[in-house]
Amino acid sequence: MTSADELFQQAANNYQRLGIEHSPFTESPTGLQSQTLQQVFTGRTNELKQVFNQFQSRERRRILVFGRIGIGKSAFLLEVLGTLQRQLPEMLSTYISLPADLDLATTALIALARAMPDDDWAQQQLYQMGIPTAKTLKERSAEVSGSLGIGGKLSEKDLPIIKPQYPTVSLETLLERAQQHYPRGVLIAIDDLDKQNPRRVRDLMHDAQGMLKGPAWFMLTGHPYGMTGDLLTSERGLFDLQIELQELDHPTTYQMLINYLNSVRIGTKYDDVADPRSVLPFSPEAAQKFCQASLGKPRLFNRLGNIVLSTAANLEAQQIDLDILDAGLKEARPALLQQAALSAQEERVRMLLEQRGSLGDDTISLEDLQQLGFRSYSEIFPILERLEAADLAHQLPQADATVFESIPLPPAEDPPQ
Ligand SMILES: Nc1ncnc2c1ncn2[C@@H]1O[C@H](COP(=O)(O)OP(=O)(O)OP(=O)(O)O)[C@@H](O)[C@H]1O
Ligand SMILES: [Mg+2]
Repeated sequence: MTSADELFQQAANNYQRLGIEHSPFTESPTGLQSQTLQQVFTGRTNELKQVFNQFQSRERRRILVFGRIGIGKSAFLLEVLGTLQRQLPEMLSTYISLPADLDLATTALIALARAMPDDDWAQQQLYQMGIPTAKTLKERSAEVSGSLGIGGKLSEKDLPIIKPQYPTVSLETLLERAQQHYPRGVLIAIDDLDKQNPRRVRDLMHDAQGMLKGPAWFMLTGHPYGMTGDLLTSERGLFDLQIELQELDHPTTYQMLINYLNSVRIGTKYDDVADPRSVLPFSPEAAQKFCQASLGKPRLFNRLGNIVLSTAANLEAQQIDLDILDAGLKEARPALLQQAALSAQEERVRMLLEQRGSLGDDTISLEDLQQLGFRSYSEIFPILERLEAADLAHQLPQADATVFESIPLPPAEDPPQ
């Protein structure tokens, strides 16, 4: 009988046989402190240029980054912040993902206070909100070390937060304190503006007008339709720059695969796109086909990457040729389904989408709706978005925002019944 230790070693060996230390693919970007994002981040050249141009000004700016689920908003934001921290140390750059049910001013206050671990007043603000401060975090270091400073998400166990009575006033005070040490000012990047509750965005923005017009720089991200288009129309004048992130083109996706693989490659790294060794363990044909399957969508790319690598490892393959790739892609739909853990109703919508190939306002019939237990298409919309988040559906780039298609993946060998 094989011991667990031996099994673990075998699993590691199966990845090493492919010439890599471990899988480089992740569903969400690794935090700001890690080197990994810098190694794997690919493309978005024009978008980065536009953002960095804004930072050539002394006047504070507000920037909105929007794009579909999993298109790379967080990665883009973190790449911008990482660069600013290296290139513009006179500016304090902070990142936070909007916590559930918090207003923007409180969120900004938390982000800033966490980036000022040496400022007693800042730490006191956190303490009063019931948020572990740098000091208490250090004491529980092993468990939460990643979330120190500008680490990003507040974990569930830190909530509920005791909201300060006058967050905007506290934020102003904190900004003044920060500006003493950072002459170029403070950048507060708030990610996931509309992830928790798309309907609240309008109110959130409305309440935050004063703060947004204040002295801090802001970068915000959200989904174009989650934000109900409101932000992009009614609040248009508020932003100095609005950037939409779209699917990566094929050459960029191919380069992204090279970067991911090189970040974990054992031995010599090959950077030249023309060198077939740059995509090892993939054969160049399999690499091309893999990039096509990922549709230029970074999260789908990462999810498929994990599935294909683990299939190849299980098959004890040394290379991923077209056959191994196909075996991996066949695993993709069942794997994505399992991960998504859909409710019965969500599954019915998914089945209908798969049957039809696409679903939209105009193509769905009253009968379809009744069978699914809905009265209107707009009621299904959140379910379709949930399918999109699980990479089980997507919207064609540039297409009518309300039409969803199923993701083209090869059928599984034995379709789950
Ligand atoms: N340009 C890029 N180069 C390399 N990796 C990327 C790039 N863009 C995104 N990724 C990676 O793809 C995955 C999904 O991206 P990310 O989490 O940034 O998407 P998102 O738009 O923030 O998603 P959500 O809508 O769920 O918040 C992450 O692992 C991220 O690191
Ligand atoms: Mg994100």
